[in-house]
This record gives sequence, C-alpha cells and structure tokens, in this order.
Amino acid sequence: QKLKLSLAQLEKGGYDTFMLKEIFEQPSTLRDCLRGRIVDNCRRVTLSGVDLNQERFKSAERITLVACGTSWHAALIGKRLIQDFCKMPVEVEYASEFRYGNPVLNEKDIVISISQSGETADTLAAIELAKAKGAFVYGICNVVGASIPRTTDSGTYIHVGPEIGVASTKAFTGQVTVLTLLALSVGHLRGAIDDATLHEVLSALDKIPETIEEALKVDTEVKKLSRIFSYAHNFLYLGRGYNYPTALEGALKLKEISYIHAEGYPAAEMKHGPIALIDHDMPSVIIAPSDSLYDKIISNVQQVKSRGGAVVAIVSKGNKAMNDIADFCIEIPEVPECLTPLVASIPLQLLAYYIAVNKGKDVDQPRNLAKSVTVE
Ligand code: G6P
Repeated sequence: QKLKLSLAQLEKGGYDTFMLKEIFEQPSTLRDCLRGRIVDNCRRVTLSGVDLNQERFKSAERITLVACGTSWHAALIGKRLIQDFCKMPVEVEYASEFRYGNPVLNEKDIVISISQSGETADTLAAIELAKAKGAFVYGICNVVGASIPRTTDSGTYIHVGPEIGVASTKAFTGQVTVLTLLALSVGHLRGAIDDATLHEVLSALDKIPETIEEALKVDTEVKKLSRIFSYAHNFLYLGRGYNYPTALEGALKLKEISYIHAEGYPAAEMKHGPIALIDHDMPSVIIAPSDSLYDKIISNVQQVKSRGGAVVAIVSKGNKAMNDIADFCIEIPEVPECLTPLVASIPLQLLAYYIAVNKGKDVDQPRNLAKSVTVE
C-alpha cells in the first residue's frame, strides 16, 4: 500500500500541527511522567530526587518556586499543592524578578526551579543566585541533560518527550503532575499528610492518563464553540483557588497563538477592575469545577452575565447548576480538587488552538515568540 503521509505529516503523527499532536499526546505523556513513581498500591510516591535528599526536605523551613511563562503558572499550582500537603510556607517568583530582588535565603531554604527547556536564561541566573546563598536547588525539567538539570543539586524530569509547539501544553501538565507527586512525597516525609488523603489523591493521579483521554473528547464541541468566539478582541479568564493559575494559563495560551488580548484573573478580584471592561463584545471563560469554591464562583458568573458578557463555563461532568446561567458549558471529568487544573487545562488548550486556527495563525510558531528564551 502506498505511503500517503509526507515526512512533515509523519513528524506530526498525522496531526495538522505539532501543538495539536502535543495536546492529544497528553494521556501517553502523563503515563510516561508517572511511570514507576506511584508505588505500594497508590500509597507511596518514589521520586529519587526527594528520596535521596530526605533530610533536606524534612528540615526545610520554606520552599520558593522560580520559573518563567507557562512554567510559572505550573509553579503557582505547585504552591497550593505544597501548602496543602506539606503545610509549609511557599513562595512563587518570576525568575526574572527573583534574580534582581535581593531574595533572603539560607541553608534552610529549598528553591525549586521549573523549566521545560532547562535553558531559560533568567531561571538559570535565579538558580545560580540561590546556590550562592546556600539554598538547596531542585530542578523540574523536561529536556534531559539541559543546563538547568546540570546546575541544580537534584531534581525530577517530567519525561513528556520533545515539545515542538512554541505554546507549551504537554510540558505544563507534566510539570503539574510532577509537582503533585513532589508535594505528596514531601508531605508524607514530613508527616503532614494523612494516609487516607495520600491514597485518595494517588489513586486519582494514577488514573489521570485515562481521565485526560476522557477530557479530550470535548474536542469537537470546543471546535464548534471556537467559531462563535473567533470574533472577540478581548477575553477574560476567571478561576479561583487551584484554578486561578489555570485561568492565567488559559489566557496565555490564547494570547500566544491567536494574538487576541486575554487576561487571566482570580474570579473574585474581577470586581476590582476588569468588571469595567465587560460588555457584549467581551466573553469570559470561567473555570468552575465542583470544588470548595463552586458556590462563590457561581455568583461571579452572575456578575458577568448581568453586564451582558457571554460566559463559557468549564464545569464538572453532571453538574447542571451552571447550565441556566452560563451561555455554554464544557464538561470535564470529576477529580479531586487538587487535580482539577490538569483536567480543566484540556478544553482551554483546545479553545485557544481552534480560535487561532480559525484566524489562520501559525500556531506552532507564533510571531515574536521563542520556544526557549536563552537571553535576558
Ligand atoms: C518561552 C516559551 C514558553 C515557556 C517559557 C519558559 O516564553 O515560549 O512556552 O513557558 O519560555 O520556558 P521554560 O523552558 O523555562 O519552561
């Protein structure tokens, strides 16, 4: 039989673009990311970077996460995970601010740097500074053997394979997955998490590749929806708690590849500014899974609706309460609250992707952006 795919198509696994391939690859990349790391029937995590440095992690007084771009959004989710499961102080900094911000650090500090490429200049400089101040530096990286994993004291690879699309997708979910494993592992080590919670989250995390596969089934629906919204010049993305960073990441994806102005905001902060912008021409995407802040976010949606703004809500499967309020609801599989960013990111990646494609943009190589920023 004749080979019908060109070399370029083969590289993209039959998809039109690398970005779409990478979005659809996530069930398998997360399987690779998790492989061998959840053990004892979902009762324990093994991460060699943590296991070999137990004393450092036990005696640490604070963790600071440093990163840029999408990796910084993963860091914000990591902050919440570490606070919840390790019950210790956590800070998040842009690497570019950290390096010039005179950070106060000592031997009791752990600095976790997150980078897909492992080559980002600002993140590398932040690491050098943290090391010089005596902190223990841990790297979460994708590219094996890159500068960051060679410079850090220890770390964990996300193992999601080469990411070619400039807009990060599978690296983001890999970073969040590793941060979840790390928070659970360190929390267990420090006696900050009970066995039942550990088992519950690990059982759900173990199944996350299948859950993401389920989440990807919204593809056709999101593609249709994208046609309605390609007209907009401005978008607002709102989320709370674990999904405030998801909102930032959804907005960044849209900006990066469609060149539509999009702002991510913590939903309740909307009334302190962005609400002034809402009208018929400014749609909002609201991340509203059934979590501890669900009732609060419903009232945020009502505020947007009463100003004439269209609302696309990302909701948990089966939760119909939003149907009467939002204009469109996209359902995602139900998972424990701490894993909702992983699942909610899927429709946001697809929405940004299809809007950009509808506008005829080059999604794999958006203008002015580089995959890896190796200069200041
Ligand atoms: C660039 C890329 C982003 C990425 C950021 C940080 O801006 O376009 O996708 O999130 O750099 O890169 P890193 O490799 O350090 O994660």
